Amino acid sequence: MPAKTALVTGASSGIGEATALELQELGYTVYGAARRTDRLAELAERGIRPLAMDVTDEDSLQAGVKQIVAETGRIDVLANIAGYGSYGALEDVPLDEARRQFEVNVFGAIRLTQLVLPHMRTQRAGTVVNVTSMGGKIYTPLGGWYHGSKFALEALSDCLRLEAKPFGIDVVVIEPGGIATEWGAIAADKLEESSSSGACAPQARAVASSLRSEANAKRTPRPASSPTPSERPSPPAAPGPATPPVSARAR
Ligand SMILES: NC(=O)c1ccc[n+]([C@@H]2O[C@H](COP(=O)([O-])OP(=O)(O)OC[C@H]3O[C@@H](n4cnc5c(N)ncnc54)[C@H](OP(=O)(O)O)[C@@H]3O)[C@@H](O)[C@H]2O)c1
Repeated sequence: MPAKTALVTGASSGIGEATALELQELGYTVYGAARRTDRLAELAERGIRPLAMDVTDEDSLQAGVKQIVAETGRIDVLANIAGYGSYGALEDVPLDEARRQFEVNVFGAIRLTQLVLPHMRTQRAGTVVNVTSMGGKIYTPLGGWYHGSKFALEALSDCLRLEAKPFGIDVVVIEPGGIATEWGAIAADKLEESSSSGACAPQARAVASSLRSEANAKRTPRPASSPTPSERPSPPAAPGPATPPVSARAR
């Protein structure tokens, strides 16, 4: 049987980049998608196939799916990971920016899923992984549009799970906590753009500084080769940090 195929969005950075590498180590043929294709060069050197894709651009979504099916004949895993945090007080964030937040975090992921589902249905198998956030379950001040987008993706994923199950397709939701990627600095920039001079400016400064803090703003270097599953340490017996780094759900 040919290798299974995975499409990973957000592959130019952070969680998506790590996921693409992990899936490749598991034996998948992996397509890593992002807008910044220069940032996919390192992955390409390691055998991951780069795809130029803006999840808000219909043509690039269609072209990407078409290319994968033409080259491999299948799509077994779709990992919707592309996303960003549009932080700012609800009073301050321009609605165009709010719409953009939903275009990327919600409509981009769901539109790509719409394009992939017919292929998974033909295979009568497949897994759609939607990376939401703990912020799709809980909320914080100045994160309204981000939380709204992630709550929405949670609900859509839960409905999709029921619709896709009869066709052998699983829908998995991953809800990360704070992970050291470029996400924090981007969210802080958005927050300062929107709210640094409004009524919430003092709070915005404090939240921006926290978003830029060590936990969120630094890119985590990946080791040259990651451990195989058998080499990995066992999970700790007791819960670790107060904020768990990730949770996953697939009923
Ligand atoms: N880091 C955290 O603490 C954390 C916590 C909970 C949830 N998450 C979620 O995890 C996901 C990945 O975040 P991350 O932490 O890995 O952030 P990151 O390092 O900033 O990576 C974000 C990725 O999304 C891609 N992206 C953004 N806009 C895009 C667009 N319009 N079209 C295509 N790709 C786009 C970026 O690629 P290009 O810019 O090259 O297109 C990049 O590869 C996001 O959905 C985020 O909300 C992160």
